Amino acid sequence: MYLAGRPADDPRRPAMPERSFAAWLALGWTEDHPEAWLARDAAGQACGWYSLAFPERENTHLAYLSPLVGPAYRRHGIGTGLVRHAAEQARQRGRTLITAESRQGSPGEAFARALGARRGISDACRVLQLKTVPDGHLARLRSQAQAAAVGYSLMSWEGPVPGRYLVQVARLNQAMNDAPRSAEDEGQQWDVARVREDQARVAAQGLRYYTVAACCERTGELAAITQLGIEPPAPDCGFQELTVVARTHRGHRLGLLVKVAMLELLAGHEPLLERVFTGNADTNAHMIAINTELGFQLLDHWPSWELAVAEVLTWPASAQGRGGAAPEPPGARGRRAQS
Ligand SMILES: CC(C)(COP(=O)(O)OP(=O)(O)OC[C@H]1O[C@@H](n2cnc3c(N)ncnc32)[C@H](O)[C@@H]1OP(=O)(O)O)[C@@H](O)C(=O)NCCC(=O)NCCS
Repeated sequence: MYLAGRPADDPRRPAMPERSFAAWLALGWTEDHPEAWLARDAAGQACGWYSLAFPERENTHLAYLSPLVGPAYRRHGIGTGLVRHAAEQARQRGRTLITAESRQGSPGEAFARALGARRGISDACRVLQLKTVPDGHLARLRSQAQAAAVGYSLMSWEGPVPGRYLVQVARLNQAMNDAPRSAEDEGQQWDVARVREDQARVAAQGLRYYTVAACCERTGELAAITQLGIEPPAPDCGFQELTVVARTHRGHRLGLLVKVAMLELLAGHEPLLERVFTGNADTNAHMIAINTELGFQLLDHWPSWELAVAEVLTWPASAQGRGGAAPEPPGARGRRAQS
């Protein structure tokens, strides 16, 4: 269903390979321990599913929803039924707000608007086609950045974060809370356990995972970091993950420096790499400026949507899936794949 929906739902980015998809369904992106529910039609055929994550360290009023209906089953009320079912799970967990995201111009956006969801913050996805980067461009950017980054040195590693850096990597993740986010989002609380959980997700997805960090020579602390994953079945594509500069080290072009150094590292380690995908909040002017300097091109926008749980629970029962050939609402035959 996920793959069949791609041409309408997310046509410009490669689909997650099966292993990555399964790990995301089981683990989510950080430590949100999502549930997955499957809807079947009267003949037992799977026709839709949703993943629902309940953050535990912060944002305990939120539930992150990813609903999907197989293309052949759309416009029969199943999507609405999935949201109604998810709202009941959210209520049972004490959550008051459901959030989701969809590509601007996709069926998901029309659906969210039809349900009366409020538009929240929007992300923009970009891609860097490595072949289009002019010769010498990265070297020029690196020397500009290095001139502003006197007193910092670069380091890199592949795979898990070395134990001696776990605390600092947690601190850098926490520094992401300065980046633009929705008014409803409290920002994430990071500690070493959460870094380890994130690494468990990377391992479960089977990613080749690279980190470049800038170290402040005076204090020895990590000042900036960038991380990127590559799916072994699709070594032509890289997916940017965290990039952040700690607040007290901003203004030294460290964001640009670590990203240029990452591209140089990948040139040596990933000979089949052709493009790198990234996403930032539309309002994250500093990060977008760096990506534009590197040559990233805009692909599409991904607004987030918010629906109050209490509001969904007032929807009439008929909104849970229409009759006739329509599949059953997921609650009737839902299967809890993960909890
Ligand atoms: C979004 C999605 C879950 C909708 O599933 P669905 O079963 O087709 O949804 P419903 O039948 O309950 O649609 C409810 C209403 O949403 C609106 N809607 C849904 N899809 C639409 C589309 N492609 N164009 C215009 N309106 C649409 C309609 O008003 C529809 O009511 P109607 O059919 O009576 O006119 C499905 O398109 C999908 O899986 N998309 C990919 C994943 C995604 O974007 N998820 C949503 C994240 S917010």
